[in-house]
Amino acid sequence: MPRDDGLSTPSSFCSPLALLESACEREIVFSEGVPSIDSGALFPDEVKYIQHAVEKRRAEFGTARVCARHALSRLGIPPCSLVPRADRSPQWPPGVVGSISHTDKLCGVAVTTSPRIASLGLDLEIDAPLESELQTLICTSTERRWLDQYKSPESGHAAKILFSAKEAFYKCQYAITEQFLEFTDVELSIDLQNGSFCVSGIGRVGGEWDRVRRTTGKIRRSDGVIATLAVLEAINP
Ligand SMILES: CC(C)(COP(=O)(O)OP(=O)(O)OC[C@H]1O[C@@H](n2cnc3c(N)ncnc32)[C@H](O)[C@@H]1OP(=O)(O)O)[C@@H](O)C(=O)NCCC(=O)NCCS
Repeated sequence: MPRDDGLSTPSSFCSPLALLESACEREIVFSEGVPSIDSGALFPDEVKYIQHAVEKRRAEFGTARVCARHALSRLGIPPCSLVPRADRSPQWPPGVVGSISHTDKLCGVAVTTSPRIASLGLDLEIDAPLESELQTLICTSTERRWLDQYKSPESGHAAKILFSAKEAFYKCQYAITEQFLEFTDVELSIDLQNGSFCVSGIGRVGGEWDRVRRTTGKIRRSDGVIATLAVLEAINP
């Protein structure tokens, strides 16, 4: 059993994850930490999983595991190994859904055992404008028109939020469909004033796609980080 160390948590009480947590139902639990290497806090199979990874990856992966165990403990779940699936998606204990994200300066995890929630997708991004070449790659024509209402540099920040929301949506839908999506396969409507988003279109048809279309999300920004959370509610909780 690895050591149960305290997390090196960010200095601000208003981190974007703390803001997300206060905007969500109490049944969704968040945890965060500053990436650092501490192999003593990991299970042997987790250490093995990242033994050949570069330092940055080892710090992000390890801190995300410590954060996840911390969040799971708040749901009454004892410490367990959290080695990803072969497709790199997270593998949670039975009855848990959740999501992981990291940036250079922050690792975050969101988990729940609520039967009302079928899937979660969390994404963290540094709050800097998205490069214009990437904007072209990730936007549908409708999303491009939405971005065009903003002047630079606001348009670049709005594009980064759209990018983050699409990553969060991707993680959330993957647990249901197990399908890869291109950025332009999905169209999101972003409400910056309310800090929310929803799916306005998916270029796929069929039962599971109709289901994940109902995903909604929240956006929070602080301390130079954007945090987005996509939530898919269960059909018959
Ligand atoms: C998987 C992906 C979303 C990860 O995003 P990222 O910005 O590289 O990295 P993040 O730090 O935000 O997230 C990493 C975490 O994502 C999770 N993850 C990886 N693959 C995943 C998947 N298929 N489904 C859900 N979560 C996944 C893992 O928990 C990982 O954490 P870990 O490595 O510590 O276990 C991204 O690499 C990817 O492949 N995207 C596909 C293209 C896409 O996003 N399309 C959008 C269409 S709407």
